[in-house]
Amino acid sequence: MNIDIVSTSAITDKALHGALTVAWETLAGLRVAVPLRGDLFIYFKSLDDILIGLNKAGGTAPVEEVMNHVEYLAEKAGCHSAVILGGGHFTADPQVVVDALANIGSVLSVAGQKQPEPSPEGVPEDVFTLILEAEAELAGWCSREKALVIARMILAERPAICVEIGVFGGRSLIPCAAALRHIGAGAIYGIEAWSPNVAIENPTDEINDDWWSKVDFNRIKQEFFRFVAATNLTQYVRVIEAPSNRAAALFDRIDFLHIDGSHSIVNAAEDVILYALKVPPGGIIVFDDINWQSTAPARALLDAICEPVAVLKDPESGLDICAVLRRR
Ligand SMILES: C[S@@+](CC[C@H](N)C(=O)[O-])C[C@H]1O[C@@H](n2cnc3c(N)ncnc32)[C@H](O)[C@@H]1O
Repeated sequence: MNIDIVSTSAITDKALHGALTVAWETLAGLRVAVPLRGDLFIYFKSLDDILIGLNKAGGTAPVEEVMNHVEYLAEKAGCHSAVILGGGHFTADPQVVVDALANIGSVLSVAGQKQPEPSPEGVPEDVFTLILEAEAELAGWCSREKALVIARMILAERPAICVEIGVFGGRSLIPCAAALRHIGAGAIYGIEAWSPNVAIENPTDEINDDWWSKVDFNRIKQEFFRFVAATNLTQYVRVIEAPSNRAAALFDRIDFLHIDGSHSIVNAAEDVILYALKVPPGGIIVFDDINWQSTAPARALLDAICEPVAVLKDPESGLDICAVLRRR
């Protein structure tokens, strides 16, 4: 190892190596650009940039704590902390260096856990925050990938009238509402019966129908309403509590349509017939659970009137699960 050390303790070069390896791993958890691993001096040089990044992100407390440890090390090494953070060589008792690495590592690993996840490309922070909150607090099945696709679509296409059939706990409606709030225009109409009788009106399969017959829809609905109010989304969310075939007449034109209601053969196809034809050419249609046998006729109808835009895959099974289409 390229370090000038005074061997006044029993600490071995191996122990120093181990401490340095752990220290580099801690940096990786920080979600900041970290240079390729190198020796102790490169580690401290990288630390300088990381402290600047943490400072910018408002994390002054960990920066101060780390600086205290660097100052202590500098004192023991008889140099200025700027030398250490500048990547300069210094001489110190290896035990002091090992302790400094461990102490700095523990501060940074706590800071890393507290650091907010950065927004993915093309998704503003306010939208991403709501996606994360919906994911953590609401019931439903919308994957992170699907939520981001919906948000990006809304931000890019700026649809005025959005419709979602099948709200359940709001997991997929919120990304749309969040993007509309970011734009400052448009509304998402959520059509949902929140009723076991409606959910199993037409059969899918025994296990699925049994599950839907026992859902506590009142609790799911209340949590959704609470979330919409608490996150200031009310201006962009309209709820139509009714079976989808009864609500279709309310719409003349739909710019963005998400079909995720009953997956029975009849209802899924009916939703396409009643709603998808109201989407004008160029409008977007998202159709969920395309891997179900019962949704195949609905999908075939959509394919007849739409161009494919994207297909989302289930990360575990690798199966196609959601189609994003553009009305021809
Ligand atoms: C698969 S869930 C929706 C999941 C939600 N979009 C998500 O991403 O978490 C289907 C929802 O459609 C609703 N539903 C089923 N049949 C319906 C119908 N005919 N009219 C309105 N809503 C219906 C069910 O109550 C259920 O909440």
